[in-house]
Amino acid sequence: MARYEIIGGNQLNGTVTISGAKNAAVAILPAALLVNGKCRVENVPDISDVRILLSILEDMGVVIQREPNGVVELDCTNIRNTNPNPELVCKMRASYYLMGALLSRFGKASVALPGGCSFASRPIDQHLKGFRALGAKVTETEEYVHLEPGENGLQGNRVSLDVVSVGATINIIMAACLLPGQTIIENAAKEPHIVDLANFLNTMGARISGAGTDTVKIRGVESLQGGNYAIIPDQIEAGTYLAAVAAAGGNVLVQNVIPKHMSCITTKLAEMGAKIINYDDAIRIQSDGKLHCTTVKTRPYPGFPTDMQAQICVCMVVAEGLSKLTESVYETRFFGYCSELERMGAHIEVIGKTANVTGRPKLRAADVVARDLRAGAALVIAGLTAEGVTRVSDIHYVERGYERLVEKMTALGANIRKVED
Ligand code: EPZ
Repeated sequence: MARYEIIGGNQLNGTVTISGAKNAAVAILPAALLVNGKCRVENVPDISDVRILLSILEDMGVVIQREPNGVVELDCTNIRNTNPNPELVCKMRASYYLMGALLSRFGKASVALPGGCSFASRPIDQHLKGFRALGAKVTETEEYVHLEPGENGLQGNRVSLDVVSVGATINIIMAACLLPGQTIIENAAKEPHIVDLANFLNTMGARISGAGTDTVKIRGVESLQGGNYAIIPDQIEAGTYLAAVAAAGGNVLVQNVIPKHMSCITTKLAEMGAKIINYDDAIRIQSDGKLHCTTVKTRPYPGFPTDMQAQICVCMVVAEGLSKLTESVYETRFFGYCSELERMGAHIEVIGKTANVTGRPKLRAADVVARDLRAGAALVIAGLTAEGVTRVSDIHYVERGYERLVEKMTALGANIRKVED
C-alpha cells in the first residue's frame, strides 16, 4: 500500500492547472457507448476511476486510443457485450452509468452493483425507478441489476425523482436518448457535470434540453454519430486547491476553471478571510492562513457541494472561533475523516447532521488513514498546515479522483512525497 508523507509549514505559491472533471468523465465515457461511431474526448483526467472505466469499455469491445495530454478516442461501432466485467464494475461507483447506456443502445444490460467510496449508504432506487418508467423490466439480485424490455417495450416517459440525484438524472438521460418518444425528468439534479454530459450527447446528435435545471427533456433519436468534445474542468479539484491555499497560506493562480461553477466555494473562502480574484478561466487566491470561523450548509448544486465538506472542514479546524458545518446530502460523511483530524488536534463535535468545529491555531502531524476520496484530500490539506511529518495511508482513494496530486502540490511549494510500502 502507498502513503503520502507531508512535512507541513510551507505556504503555497505559484500556478496550478486543474484537470478535467472526474464526475463528468465517468459519465461521458460510458455515454460513448450510445454512439455508433468514433468519439474524440479531450481533457480526460488520468485518474484510477477513469482507467478502470476505460478497461471495462475495452473489455466490452470498445476500441480505445489514448493520446498524450488527456485525449481519448473511443470507437463503439462494433460492441455486442452487454455484460460488463463484474470484477472491474464493482471497483467504482460510476459503473452504474453502463446500465443506462446499454439499455438505450441495446435494449438490455446485466451490470454488477457498483463499488466506490462507502461513506454512506448509496442506493440506486431512483435509477431503477427511471428505467421502469421507460418500460424496462428490472430484475435485482444480491450482486446484479438485469434490464430488459418490459411487455410494452421501451419508450420515453415522464419520470419524477423522489430525491435530487446526480446519478439517477445522468442514468435516465442516457437511457432515454435512443428510445422512441419524449422523456421528461422532473426534480432533476443540476450539477455542471450533468450539463456537460448533455452537451456531449447533443454534440453527437442527441436532443436534450433543460440540463442544469430541475426539468430535463430528452427527445429520442434513431442513433448518435461520432464527434469531438472537451470535458469541463473539475470544480471539486479546483475547490480542493483553493481550500489548501486558504488553510496553509500563500498566493496561487488556479487556472483552467469555470468561476461560475466555483462561486459557492469561493464565496465561503472569502467569508473566512481569503482574498479571491476571478478571471475568465482562472481564480487567484491569497491567504495568510489566518481564517475566521463561518457556517456552511452543503446542498445540491448550485449550493455548497457535499464533495467539499471535508476540505472546508479543515479550513474551519485552523480558523479562529466556532464554525458550524451542516451536511444535507450524506449525513454520515463526517465519519470518514473527523476522527482522523482529531488525532491531529482538531476539536470537532458532530451532533446529528452538524459538526461544530472549534478552531485551533495549529494542527500536529500524525499518522492518519484516508477512508474515502475527499476525506483523503482533506487529510493532505491538514498535513500541509501541521507541524511535523503527517503520513496519510490508503491513498488509493485519493488517486481515484486527483490527477498528479503530488506533482501539482510540489510545484506549489508543498513538501509532499508518495512512499510505496
Ligand atoms: C454523485 O454521486 C457524485 N459521484 C458524488 O461524488 C457526489 O457526492 C454526489 O453525486 C452528490 O453531488 C459521481 O458523480 C460519480 P446522488 P451519486 O445520486 O450520483 C440519494 C466524489 O467525491 N439517492 O446525487 O451517487 C443518495 O443516498 C463523489 O466525487 C437515493 O436515495 O449521488 C444521496 O443521499 C462522492 N437513491 C442523495 O440521493 C438513488 O437512487 C444524492 O445522491 C440515488 C441517490
